Amino acid sequence: MTQTTMTLDRRHPYDNLSDRIGNTPLIRFQGEVPHGNRIWIKREYDNPFGSHYDRVYLALFDHFEKLGIIKPGSKVLETTSGTAGVSYAGIGRELGYECHVAIPKGMDNAVIEAIRQQGATPYFTPEQDYIAGFPTFLRSFLREHRGEFTFLNHSMTQQRGPGGSVPANNETTLQAMAGITREIQQELPVVDYFIPAVGNGSSILGPAMELEDTTKVVVFESFQSAVAYDQKCPGDYERRYGIKPGTLPRHKLRGTSYPGIDFPHIRNAITQGIIDDVALVSDAEIDRHYHASTGRDDTVSLPHWDVQFMGHKDLGKTGRAGIAVALRLAEKVADKNLVIIAYDKAERYDR
Ligand SMILES: Cc1ncc(COP(=O)(O)O)c(C=O)c1O
Repeated sequence: MTQTTMTLDRRHPYDNLSDRIGNTPLIRFQGEVPHGNRIWIKREYDNPFGSHYDRVYLALFDHFEKLGIIKPGSKVLETTSGTAGVSYAGIGRELGYECHVAIPKGMDNAVIEAIRQQGATPYFTPEQDYIAGFPTFLRSFLREHRGEFTFLNHSMTQQRGPGGSVPANNETTLQAMAGITREIQQELPVVDYFIPAVGNGSSILGPAMELEDTTKVVVFESFQSAVAYDQKCPGDYERRYGIKPGTLPRHKLRGTSYPGIDFPHIRNAITQGIIDDVALVSDAEIDRHYHASTGRDDTVSLPHWDVQFMGHKDLGKTGRAGIAVALRLAEKVADKNLVIIAYDKAERYDR
């Protein structure tokens, strides 16, 4: 694979996008925070297509184009639970690509509509399989359309340039996300706690590459899935809560971990010792399911994402979960800077 150089004309749409993506605001949480702690919100939803994934897809299209694997007009494919799909479709369109995207059935209409508005073609995978349905879809779709599509696969494969001159696509994803912490650190002298979601692990591993060793990384995921939790402390969940991770019906914290698919970035974040703690978050529906299957109420005392924070009604679910986790942490420490990511906006959800 040889690396190609872009003409100045071709660089133009890339430069235009990179002027608009990143450098998102870091704002202070307006609610009361105990013990003189401060919660900071990195507002990634201010990116033009509404999430941290704008950074990733700008870098990924550039990566594949430089490798000569795609060129304007090419058909490209991605899989997503929603949020990443909007960034992918919006950026792909501006760069002249024909974007196709697989998404599990039953995702919020608001996000599917946002993907459609960017001109991408959606394909729906079975609702009950959620994101674990992607490998089956990909096998048959790519076989059926042999050679027609390039699957960008932002977090799993390793498509690398000659002699490593271009990093692999999954490294490109992480590098793009590292920009989040570079920007935070320009504004805050010390980041005591960084509190990202466990999605496919990239918004943990990427930003963590730029963090000082002294920053503690506390990640969160739904009580229902507990993928990172179970990898960090094997067996602890079952001992503590009396059920295995993934036993309860599917959670509604879109974009976060789900049992049944093994994301390398989560595993790497655990094995590299990047994650200091995994917080489990719940919601009223999970509380009900847990009570119904065990007769117990342990989940009620966990941080909950199905709450509103005055002055921050625009936060999507994972942003609210981050605040809930930060507030819980703030009860135990004093005079610290705790940073969460506002991944997307509430308007991208149906309820
Ligand atoms: C709303 C939302 N929050 C958080 C995340 C976590 O991001 P990542 O998987 O890149 O770490 C995602 C991922 O898609 C998401 O959609």
